[in-house]
Amino acid sequence: MTSTDLVPFMMRRPGVPFPPPEYEGFRTKPGLTKAALPSGETVWLVTRHEEVRAVLTDPRISSNPTHEGFPRPSRTVGAPSADDVPGWFVSLDPPDHNRFRKALIPEFTVRRIRALRPAVEQIVDHAIDQMLAKGNTAELVEDFSLTVPSLVISALLGVPKVDRDFFEEKTKVLVTLTSTDEQRDKASEHLLRYINRLITIKSKRPGDDLISKLLQGGLLTPQELSGVSMLLLIAGHETTANNISLGVVTLLQQKQWIDDDRMIEELLRYHSVADLVALRVAIEDVEIGGQLVRAGEGIVPLVAGANHDPDMFERPDEFDPSRSATGHVAFGYGVHQCLGQNLVRLEMDVAYRGLFRRIPTLEVAVPLEELRFKYDGVLFGLHALPVRW
Ligand code: HEM
Repeated sequence: MTSTDLVPFMMRRPGVPFPPPEYEGFRTKPGLTKAALPSGETVWLVTRHEEVRAVLTDPRISSNPTHEGFPRPSRTVGAPSADDVPGWFVSLDPPDHNRFRKALIPEFTVRRIRALRPAVEQIVDHAIDQMLAKGNTAELVEDFSLTVPSLVISALLGVPKVDRDFFEEKTKVLVTLTSTDEQRDKASEHLLRYINRLITIKSKRPGDDLISKLLQGGLLTPQELSGVSMLLLIAGHETTANNISLGVVTLLQQKQWIDDDRMIEELLRYHSVADLVALRVAIEDVEIGGQLVRAGEGIVPLVAGANHDPDMFERPDEFDPSRSATGHVAFGYGVHQCLGQNLVRLEMDVAYRGLFRRIPTLEVAVPLEELRFKYDGVLFGLHALPVRW
């Protein structure tokens, strides 16, 4: 195969609906599709629902970036390993990965997350108060969608209220595409230093927060806890923000609100923002969808492809809030399935209820064609969402 036969890794999404039209072609041809990363490396793309789930549960396929051939989306950017950042457990395979899940799962159960509802409602209400105080227009991504998850995660970790502005400012720098590498490095250094200080304080004066509970649980070292805190912060910030913003656009377009969990699941399936997140490498030869993948070859299971597979979901490119989207893989699948998914569902629910109840005349302030979508990042979303009421 010559390099001109390869499809480019970052495919343009056409806006709404999703995903890139190329996925359909990949799905209907036998085997897998080989793609070129901007770094020059090649990977296998997996788009069918059944095969995406098979990849994400196969022990011969690894999440560890220290393995030869692990995909690096660009020449300079690669996923950190748990050797680089102790506690970065998304990059570990079982059995090393198990200890982290065991320590964290009790903090993310439906019951634990439900108890956070009043705190999340307060955060959402405050963000809306601030938007309303500024007049009758806002830029929703900056003023709401990025603010809410950042404040929620800081509340969860036990960041004192007085420090939340600092925390929010630094996390925004980390996930904003327009930040320079230098700004991002500096923000990350400040946050890490802050988190380490917080861990020291909580070890002396524990509170009713995640860091204190994990310290008391004794399963993780303070150094690992610092990496875990950074992972939660990064994994849960822009992902949730993109979902909230895209959901607002879709719900306003639909002009329909189904007041139950099905709507949230359908939004997650339909948008599938973390399409390019679950990178993998084969550590043994393995056959996927009739395709031999050799040890050392990179694999990218495309969750947007799987979530728009007509063999799994009827009329997959249609947003249908009354369907059951159960079985979608927007949060991945298998041992690495998103730890924060119950929190995301809560944040989306509280965010939409708050926005549409308190601002019933909310509308997108520009024609849909003028919205700037993030076609070029690892996550799908909106750069900005001008709204008015
Ligand atoms: C893992 C998506 C929000 C924490 C994942 C994975 C996906 C995902 C696809 C699997 C990665 C893989 O298999 O390699 C999303 C989406 C979100 C979201 C679409 C928002 C809409 C959050 C939030 C948190 C979080 C709010 C935390 C508060 C994590 C963690 C992992 C993870 C820690 C790694 C789990 C592990 O390796 O065991 N997420 N995520 N995510 N997510 Fe999320």
